[in-house]
Amino acid sequence: MNDPIATPGGKLVLVEFDDGIAWVSLNRPDKRNAMNPALNAEMLGVLDALETDERCGLVVVTGAGDAYSAGMDLKEFFRESDRLAPEAWLQISRVAQTWQIDRLRHYPKPTIAMVNGWCFGGAFNSVVSCDLAIAAEEAVFGLSEVNWGIIPAGNVLKSVASVMSARDGLYYTLTGETFDGSRAAEMKLVNIAVPHAILREHTRALARTLLSKNRAAVRAAKHAFRRVGAMSWDDSDDYLAAKLDQLRLTDPEGGRNEGMRQFLDDKTYRPGLGGYQRDKSGSSGA
Ligand code: COA
Repeated sequence: MNDPIATPGGKLVLVEFDDGIAWVSLNRPDKRNAMNPALNAEMLGVLDALETDERCGLVVVTGAGDAYSAGMDLKEFFRESDRLAPEAWLQISRVAQTWQIDRLRHYPKPTIAMVNGWCFGGAFNSVVSCDLAIAAEEAVFGLSEVNWGIIPAGNVLKSVASVMSARDGLYYTLTGETFDGSRAAEMKLVNIAVPHAILREHTRALARTLLSKNRAAVRAAKHAFRRVGAMSWDDSDDYLAAKLDQLRLTDPEGGRNEGMRQFLDDKTYRPGLGGYQRDKSGSSGA
């Protein structure tokens, strides 16, 4: 569990490799991992680097210390930006949204947000953009923007509206009230909430499950899921058919044929109940 990768600066985002999992921690615990421009730039660099790093089969985004992230940094991201030229502000804002939304939503490897503690405002973006999210039951979430006179911009409201119901999303946006991890799971902001004491262990088990699947199929499925929502039924049908054909051509382990062979000929597994044995097809482990 060491081997931090070299990243520019390298202090504000920590990376640990663990059996195919890259644990990526926002690392300003004394500031509750509030995201300042330097952290955002470093995070973008880390995600770029991990995309082709063979030690990483899956990314877990989390926070160091007792916070996931207290959102955007009120001092360095907001107040100090007031004196910037519009172009400079746009650039700072774009870097933040690029890693939190664009990169994570379309990342070529599976992603899990592990919400270990405080999670406010801008931190919702990465939670929603990761493929899956697990929270500590004790974690505290809040759309606190209204509490200091702004709105959840930076596409935070777009993230919220994409997973929460209008009733729940509007309630917490307008009241600024906090809610815990269990409530976040109830509202489907996260998949599941577990006691903090087993959060990492639970996340690790979920990560190992994803890593045990055919990687090309997982990548194609997550990309397709993001895209079909905005398509008509006919466009979606055509797109998915093309994606399926593409997968048959590009999957290095020929999972489709191997899966059918192990079920129909070897009778060694049941696809309804689990994945085929990948090492039999010569695939790599993690
Ligand atoms: N931006 C900048 N600094 C922040 C911050 C943020 N979003 N969140 C926390 N910090 C800083 C505090 O200013 C403080 O700095 P200092 O030690 O130099 O005084 C330090 O982090 C610790 O914060 P503190 O409030 O003492 O910690 P806490 O554990 O008592 O409370 C929070 C944690 C998250 C409830 C509280 O810090 C908070 O409300 N933060 C703002 C959350 C927010 O509204 N974010 C949305 C932004 S859109």
